[in-house]
Amino acid sequence: MHMIDKMALVTTLERNSLILVQKSLYARNLNLYKHSILTAEIAKDIVVCTDKDFGITPAQAYLAGMLHDVGKLFVQDRILDKRHPLTEKEWEVMEKHPAWGHEYVKGTVFEHYGDVILHHHKLPDGSGYPKGLASKELDERVRLISAADKIAAFIEDRPYRRRIPHTELIYQEVRSVAELLFDDEKAETIIATVMGAIAMDRWSPLHKEQFSTIAWREL
Ligand SMILES: [Fe+2]
Ligand SMILES: [Fe+2]
Repeated sequence: MHMIDKMALVTTLERNSLILVQKSLYARNLNLYKHSILTAEIAKDIVVCTDKDFGITPAQAYLAGMLHDVGKLFVQDRILDKRHPLTEKEWEVMEKHPAWGHEYVKGTVFEHYGDVILHHHKLPDGSGYPKGLASKELDERVRLISAADKIAAFIEDRPYRRRIPHTELIYQEVRSVAELLFDDEKAETIIATVMGAIAMDRWSPLHKEQFSTIAWREL
């Protein structure tokens, strides 16, 4: 474990506000809460371990990871926890979560994370959602959170499937995400960092139920 103060360079107001967000995520939906923490940890570890410039400090990466799906606070449990593929109508609701999250942080201390929240499902070729959004160049912060979000999804249980069971399959998925979002040099360091963390089981305690009650007390 890297000895880094998760909240270094983050203001007291941001730190206190984050605790409120974490408690809301926890109270609202346990899977959403665990996914947000895992994404935050992965984003922070990528910044720390790769030593590359993502336009964001490790603490800010942690914050952005915690906030990326905050718009899902407004998505019903029956959609968030659905074990079967979503219907078209349910997808319409789900695809609104980046815009709802963007709106949620407006006028708050987290407003400057709004663009990361809004764009975390957009891809460099302009696909993804929200649809109709001008396909602007995605900045490095958005790419980092987008990658951490996707990597989290590979290594966590989801309502509709178990985590990807095989390290080789995870490796292939991580490689395809890293190569999609970053140049070769950054992609290689991200792959090495993520696969190293998985080999050391650095993120596995996040899957344990007990973790869900301790995260904000640690801050
Ligand atoms: Fe999302
Ligand atoms: Fe997510």
